[in-house]
Amino acid sequence: MTRLELTWPGKDQFLLVPRDETGKPVWVPREHPAAAEVRTTEFVGEFGEVNPADPHSDNLLFVGDSLDVLRILLEVPEFRRHYRGRVKQVYIDPPFNTGQAFAHYDDWLEHATWLSFMHERLHLIRELLRPDGSVWVHLDDAEHHHMRVLLDDVFGRASFVDTVVWQKADSPRNSARWFSTDQDYISVYAKDPARWLPNRLGRTDKSNAIYSNPDNDPRGPWLAGDPYANKPYSRGLYEYEGPTGRIFTPPPGKFWRIAEAKLRELDEDGRIWWGPNSDARPSIKRYLSEVGDLVPRTMWFSADVGSNRTSNREMKALFPDLPAFSTPKPERLLERVIRIGSSPGDIVLDCFAGSGTTAAVAHKTGRRWVSSEILEDTVDTFTRPRLEKIVNGDDPGGITADVGWSGGRGFRCVQVGPSMYVDSPYGVLLSDDATNGLFSRAVAGQLGYEFQPFAAPLCGVRGRMRLAVLDGAVGREEVQAIVGALTDGERVEIVGRNVLDGAAQMLDHLARGSRLTKAPRDLLTSSTLRSRRRVLREQ
Ligand SMILES: C[S@@+](CC[C@H](N)C(=O)[O-])C[C@H]1O[C@@H](n2cnc3c(N)ncnc32)[C@H](O)[C@@H]1O
Repeated sequence: MTRLELTWPGKDQFLLVPRDETGKPVWVPREHPAAAEVRTTEFVGEFGEVNPADPHSDNLLFVGDSLDVLRILLEVPEFRRHYRGRVKQVYIDPPFNTGQAFAHYDDWLEHATWLSFMHERLHLIRELLRPDGSVWVHLDDAEHHHMRVLLDDVFGRASFVDTVVWQKADSPRNSARWFSTDQDYISVYAKDPARWLPNRLGRTDKSNAIYSNPDNDPRGPWLAGDPYANKPYSRGLYEYEGPTGRIFTPPPGKFWRIAEAKLRELDEDGRIWWGPNSDARPSIKRYLSEVGDLVPRTMWFSADVGSNRTSNREMKALFPDLPAFSTPKPERLLERVIRIGSSPGDIVLDCFAGSGTTAAVAHKTGRRWVSSEILEDTVDTFTRPRLEKIVNGDDPGGITADVGWSGGRGFRCVQVGPSMYVDSPYGVLLSDDATNGLFSRAVAGQLGYEFQPFAAPLCGVRGRMRLAVLDGAVGREEVQAIVGALTDGERVEIVGRNVLDGAAQMLDHLARGSRLTKAPRDLLTSSTLRSRRRVLREQ
């Protein structure tokens, strides 16, 4: 029987994010080396206080494609130990696929392409999340409905939590042809719905303002609650006499919400309100002092969390001399997202950083954050300068005053390396970048080894397995020298561009259980990949 399935042209292929001038998406078969490639990384800057001992555990701003960054976080050992299964919350505000040309990025993706683009990334996001983590996906009507189905596909329908509706417009657009659209959507999915719990929100003056104290009750302001319920209740039908002798019974079809004895007890304790003249229908008082924090609701109004106009103002205040970034989100919106989905110290990730609102708010509210943005220009112009201002205490806008932010902590910038593969008429070859000194690092990342630059001829470690990479041919002599560098019980994976006769037998003889791999041919064969995935799963 065919099962219900979301499918689209190209779902079985891999989408390479285009880097050429034409801006056209490039599809390749799943076996293409680039479809599983793990890129190299380089730390290119540090701002404020960072951790000198382990740069991988700092707040991180990556410059690169979200897919590469998610893979790096999941697979490169130095990152993996901090991020795989450890991210508490992911918020993404990906390209909306609205068909509009934005000034700072091309919203070029057609629907099917967009689905593939998101599909690849959501799978990786799921792996990064903690068991009690959640993903929040911000979209508008162009793709929200597709995204719901896609999220069902990747996370499972039972993982759907709710859809938040954000009032992004605070005034109508009279030029709209049909309707002036007021809202965006944020779909919330839990990694494991049995384990995810939202944080309640602190009470605000506005939420407290509906409580009053017309009878000067010493317990303070209260709200009148309905004494009747629609649900039949066996002890819910009785007559009750009010203070003036008037008899009350539930209206037809309704029942008392509480039993007679309980109503009497509350009445004697002054917890029932009979109206200003003591002869009205009773109400059960709910005291402000006794209600807890607020359960999150799904309609988020611009008066509470800001609108597009708010975020444009925030950008203008940060960068008065620059043309505005196209699609920033208000800090108060992200503050609510982050407060519900994480606690101070948790890791929050946004792999479509844009102007960096998620990182900005995560920073100001004491979360750890990781963000990535593909456009270097956006990072140089908006994201990094904004975060630097926050670290230096030079950003008085957004939620700064609300949370009492005055600067501090820091972050690092990480550049994602270029692909180590190039297509040529002769097949897939290693790129100049990979052969130009970065080869061993690229191979270590590819095969899931922790890179060790100063241990030549060995350059990586994975448990009792060592890695040796030769930018040339591997013969018997090389094998002997490499095995000589091993300590007792260690085995080695030797990667070379060429494997000479007799090398494999020699390796088997000297260090049984070791492996010889030819680059690039064997690097991404399905068995090499399978073994890498197995190792990753086991760790
Ligand atoms: C809607 S904007 C995000 C705006 C952000 N929430 C803010 O408050 O500024 C989407 C961003 O994703 C970036 N982007 C698009 N494709 C990407 C990719 N493959 N990897 C990383 N970033 C990407 C765009 O350059 C753009 O800056």
